[in-house]
Amino acid sequence: MIPKTFKIKSFGCQMNVYDGERMAELLDSRGMRAAGEDDDADLVVLNTCHIREKAAEKAYSDVGRLRREDGSKPLIALAGCVAQAEGAEARRRSPMIDIVVGPQAYHRLPDMVGEAASGKRPVDTDMPAISKFDAMPARRRAAPSAYLTVQEGCDKFCTYCVVPYTRGAEIGRPLRDILDEARALIDCGAREIVLLGQNVNAWREAGAGLASLIRQLARIDGLERIRYTTSHPNDMDDALIAAHGEVEQLMPYLHLPVQSGSDRVLKTMNRSHSVDSYLRILDKVRSVRPDIALSGDFIVGFPGETEEEFQQTLSVVDAVCYASAYSFKYSPRPGTPAAAMDDQIERAVMDDRLQRLQERINHHQSAFNRSRIGTETQVLIERSGRNPGQMIGKSPWLQSVHVETAATPGEIIDVTLVEAGPRSMTGAERALAAA
Ligand code: 5AD
Ligand code: SF4
Repeated sequence: MIPKTFKIKSFGCQMNVYDGERMAELLDSRGMRAAGEDDDADLVVLNTCHIREKAAEKAYSDVGRLRREDGSKPLIALAGCVAQAEGAEARRRSPMIDIVVGPQAYHRLPDMVGEAASGKRPVDTDMPAISKFDAMPARRRAAPSAYLTVQEGCDKFCTYCVVPYTRGAEIGRPLRDILDEARALIDCGAREIVLLGQNVNAWREAGAGLASLIRQLARIDGLERIRYTTSHPNDMDDALIAAHGEVEQLMPYLHLPVQSGSDRVLKTMNRSHSVDSYLRILDKVRSVRPDIALSGDFIVGFPGETEEEFQQTLSVVDAVCYASAYSFKYSPRPGTPAAAMDDQIERAVMDDRLQRLQERINHHQSAFNRSRIGTETQVLIERSGRNPGQMIGKSPWLQSVHVETAATPGEIIDVTLVEAGPRSMTGAERALAAA
């Protein structure tokens, strides 16, 4: 029987969130309806992430938990990067899985659901040259801050990373399609667009790079804010740096992963930049946009990392004074060069390093938040807060701001930041006082 209702659960990066939204629109356009949060669904799509070991394990245990009390189960589709990496093997690990669909093949999901409903167990992890985007229905819903994938895949081959294997080679979407989708998102309520790609700043068309795309987007009426994530230092060209100083809609926030503060480790990671070249980029960005909030990614316990090399990572954190940062324990991914390296680091050492790194990051994050107290700025309202009358939105520096206001999601309001927590800010609406 063809399912009537569906649920999609996305894990991992923002690109998966975007893909999850697109799959929902696709199923919706074929007459299926999203089940309520607490309701049972006929079809459950687990849109998985493979970047670290635990995420994949979590996906399998989530599959197991879909069995209902009466022993029955919904139709289950394994999508995303675990699906891509494991292919048919995923179904052997969990016979409850009916459909395996990779990130480049999900435009086929509705057909595969039909096949599965008639007893087949389809697998599609092809990476076709024809863009899945062409097969998608038009955008009809958008959050105030909407994701838009402009580029997928990666050619960098950092030695720890599965992405070049799960998402394939770098491929950019055509400029015209991106602008069309941006306009459609704005028409259905978006005020901010977050451009997504595994290597978003590698996007280019006819010699023009991301900076040129951002400048074209900035000309669209109604688009108030632009962000992009995630970037590689080597693709941070001067045009993009200049855009941070010149394009008003480009928000003062940059997520630029460095991974390690040791040149030797960076070399074995095949990062093809040095600590110094990374810091020079950030200096340039700061010189055109002094208030920019900087963010990064770090891996601790990469094979062979010594205590001294780890301390160099802490020094980078202190040198940059990140406004936020993500840090991870190294996780060996099957098939990647680093997984076969000698000198894998003991778990206890990794735990200890991660804790020390996170303490240092939290220290700078709190300091950044405190430094904004008293700042008059604007907040894009995204959703209701926990208390009545309270709303939550984002500052230009991507801080969550709690504010008492009658404004609704999608409105941009004038706020004075009055209090700083470790993870969020409290704001006071200014229009009220001015009235
Ligand atoms: N182990 C730990 N962290 C990883 N990342 C990518 N691959 C691994 C891995 N094998 C981290 C990097 C990257 C972020 C998305 O995830 O820091 O920037
Ligand atoms: Fe996870 Fe990478 Fe896939 Fe995103 S692209 S879901 S981070 S493995």
